[in-house]
Amino acid sequence: GLSDQLEILGVRYPTDAITNVTPAILSKLSLRLHTQHAHPLNTLRSLIESHYPDFAHLSSLSPLVTPYKNFDELSFPKDHPGRAVTDSYYLNKDLMLRTHTSAHEVEVFRRGETKWLLTADVYRRDEIDGSHYPVFHQMEGARIFSADASGMKECEENNAWLAQQLAMSNIVIEDVPHISPTNPVQPTHDPRYSELVARNLKLSLNTLMLKLFGGVAGSNSQNPLRVRWIEAYFPFTSPSFEVEVYFQGEWLEILGCGVVRQATLDTAGVSNKIGWAFGLGLERIAMILYSIPDIRLFWSTDPRFLSQFEHGKITTFRPYSKYPSCFKDVSFWSPKDKPLHENDFCDLVRDVAGDLVEDVQKIDNFVHPKTGRTSMCFRINYRSMDRSLSNDEVNGIQSQVVSRLKDKMGVEIR
Ligand code: PHE
Repeated sequence: GLSDQLEILGVRYPTDAITNVTPAILSKLSLRLHTQHAHPLNTLRSLIESHYPDFAHLSSLSPLVTPYKNFDELSFPKDHPGRAVTDSYYLNKDLMLRTHTSAHEVEVFRRGETKWLLTADVYRRDEIDGSHYPVFHQMEGARIFSADASGMKECEENNAWLAQQLAMSNIVIEDVPHISPTNPVQPTHDPRYSELVARNLKLSLNTLMLKLFGGVAGSNSQNPLRVRWIEAYFPFTSPSFEVEVYFQGEWLEILGCGVVRQATLDTAGVSNKIGWAFGLGLERIAMILYSIPDIRLFWSTDPRFLSQFEHGKITTFRPYSKYPSCFKDVSFWSPKDKPLHENDFCDLVRDVAGDLVEDVQKIDNFVHPKTGRTSMCFRINYRSMDRSLSNDEVNGIQSQVVSRLKDKMGVEIR
């Protein structure tokens, strides 16, 4: 029957026991905000692309990937939490919505690209608040060199040029060693090669940070741009790093990166190369650069939002008045031995309320000492970005939430 198939971007797919994509999520697949004219995410993409003019710029890969491509090909262990149905969206056991742009590394390297940027929508199940949304946009960047004297010469020349750019600029960098016992060189790598590549990665990204944030955070010598490098861990890079930028009194996590695992390059058929990759989230950066206060605004079609932007220009967003919010609580007993997952609750609410939900908070959780059942209470904050919601409308949405909880989740409302 129709109910065991899903139509996505014009193609039908079978569903199964682990299918957890919702209509609210599927409606986002065709929007591709990073390619919409004058959209802040598109302008930010162009700005980053202009920092890498001789790289291939890709932005039209399908969000449907196999779990193999999203995880296994990138050396994720079989028990990695990101694979769980509570964390990722599955169409069925063989197909999922990519959780990161790294899912395309192997295919792009296999095509023979050696310098590339890839922009795409990515999907993760998450809580609901002003800075989390289950769909967001990432940009992956990568560069690989011949793992020989000529490749390393190219790398060193580029390093010298980039270092000169940085020396002339107003930036303070807190660095960590390229390689350390806790952030090791890969066993198959010549440590001198890995060091040169890691240095190229850091120089490329430090100059990018200067281009993006130099204006907002480092406009004078009393107040230089501060960038901090931290050791990190990703299954598909080693050594690995995170980059943070100091902005308005806080260190903000901007991206993850590292020296690409040789297994990835081997799978792609380019084992004679060595190189780096990074992945950054566009919304986080755009919210800072444009002063956009709520991540849902990126999805707004309200002219008061869209008409503020001009393609290629970063301007300060002028907030229009917020409409009032409306809080509704719901308390229930989970089915015995099966406490409802917060992400399942959030997806249910999002599916009923769409972008009318601003925030969901779990305000109570307890296990009954005698029956062992779990009781939970969630507070939902409803607010439209575009209009005032009537109490009747919110009550209508809330009662749909409540009946779905009863019918689909088997909970007992308290
Ligand atoms: N894919 C990682 C993430 O989404 C970021 C990353 C990309 C890390 C490339 C290392 C190299 O968190």
